[in-house]
Amino acid sequence: MSNMAAPDAAAPAADIAATAHVHELEPAMAATLTPIRAILAAVRAYDGERVRVGGWVRTGRVQCGGTVAFLAVNDGSCHATLQLVVDAAQVPHPPLARLAATGTSVLVSGVLRIPTKRSKERIELGVDAVLHAGLVDDAAAYPLPKSRLRLDYLRDFLHLRPRTETMAAVARMRSQLTFATHSFFQENGFLCVHTPIVTTNDCEGAGEMFQVTTLFSQAQKADKELLKLKLSEISRNNDDDDDGSVGFDNDFFRRQAFLTVSGQLHAEPYACALSRVYTFGPTFRAENSHTSRHLAEFWMVEPEMAFANLQDIMNYAESYVKHLCQWLLTHCLEDMKFMVETHDKTAIQRLERVSTTPFERISYTQAIEMLVESEGNKKFQTKVEWGIDLASEHERYLTEVIFEKPVIVYNYPTGIKAFYMRLNDDQKTVAAMDVLVPKVGELIGGSQREERLDILKQRILDAGLQLESYEFYLDLRRYGTVEHSGFGLGFERMLLFATGLENIRDVIPFPRCPGKADL
Ligand code: 4AD
Ligand code: MG
Repeated sequence: MSNMAAPDAAAPAADIAATAHVHELEPAMAATLTPIRAILAAVRAYDGERVRVGGWVRTGRVQCGGTVAFLAVNDGSCHATLQLVVDAAQVPHPPLARLAATGTSVLVSGVLRIPTKRSKERIELGVDAVLHAGLVDDAAAYPLPKSRLRLDYLRDFLHLRPRTETMAAVARMRSQLTFATHSFFQENGFLCVHTPIVTTNDCEGAGEMFQVTTLFSQAQKADKELLKLKLSEISRNNDDDDDGSVGFDNDFFRRQAFLTVSGQLHAEPYACALSRVYTFGPTFRAENSHTSRHLAEFWMVEPEMAFANLQDIMNYAESYVKHLCQWLLTHCLEDMKFMVETHDKTAIQRLERVSTTPFERISYTQAIEMLVESEGNKKFQTKVEWGIDLASEHERYLTEVIFEKPVIVYNYPTGIKAFYMRLNDDQKTVAAMDVLVPKVGELIGGSQREERLDILKQRILDAGLQLESYEFYLDLRRYGTVEHSGFGLGFERMLLFATGLENIRDVIPFPRCPGKADL
């Protein structure tokens, strides 16, 4: 079986394993490993086979008077662990008790066998050589003992938490959703565009941008005593009419620059040339939201289509979300089952239901009418009336209680939405749409874009923004304008929806939120 083709995608590709060796270097190591996922996917085929496995000890126990260790080892390729049986007679070093400590890394060689006695293991590895052991210095000090730990406790150990079952499951699901996103858009003829992270304009016009500047680090290089003086000197407004405001002529970009809140304004030029594009990247918002649904740095998937109106993007948003749900059911069932057992009983059911049920579509005005009617049974913190921005409590009531499925709300009041959304004929609403889903509320926000030059100019001015910053955006309307539309899906919100976890800080590897940017 040593020449057998890898039975699972997690095994290294044969052509990588077969590439040439450089003799004066150590032989390639990764290529010699068999992922645990591959072993567990073909237990019978691996019975009696010699393999090398590398991973981290989740739990370990030493039995038979200290002569045999049983180690449950995980390598991240799947949720399950593989049991390693280490006999001190064959492996005198390191001491079994050290090897069995949670967190120890091991690279071992041995022979796989299906246990003959009644055992809960489907297959185990009889180890005859420990090729590497990364011991845990002080087992009592290791922050992740065997017991299941609270997720808020784990947030203090962002570098170690990927070793826990929950965080590893989230990481695999995130990776699969990334793949499913690219496959969905690529299969539908969208080009992936890498829009910039540093930008000079505010897409949402909400003033929630982080500034990118080197002025402070330049100033810090100066003598501390002179810091203040120096800062005012290097940031002095070079204009003749210096009014004391900070000038950015000496800053890195010679102008004010920010971290982007959305890739949309950079995706539009590509959509207005290549028809269908999408961008998938990090976005940043300096909003002081301390909720379990907001991050200061989050990832967004933003498709943008030319020759497309509001109905088109509602259709795409619905089929994209369905595709993601179906993908997880097909490719992450083991992790989903774990989520059901440990975090949210309804997680699988929710994915099944969403992937097969048509989404409800209602106008903002209808949504308000329904919420007003519900006020007899349900007390909302914010009073419902036409013109309000729907709060999370309203969104969740619509999707969780009234419809019990995803709802697309469209045609929002002009006053609560961004300047780029297309003004409807009623002059009161814009062609916007939000997709609301159970557990989360708003998952997607999108719109048809204002393609009429004069109206767009007026909307920019009405929003209190400077026309100069948006000249490039206006050019798209001056030169070959076209109806176009797009949306943004909050990737972490999608993960909250899928996993059933309660806090958005647990579905991104290194969360950044007000007052917190660890590591
Ligand atoms: O509704 P938003 O603000 O829309 C836009 O940014 C548009 N420019 C997108 C577009 O049309 N291309 O944000 C889109 C989604 C929201 O629906 C929500 O899921 C998520 O991004 N989101 C956040 N996720 C985590 N933390 C935050 N602070 C978020 N703000 C928005
Ligand atoms: Mg929104």
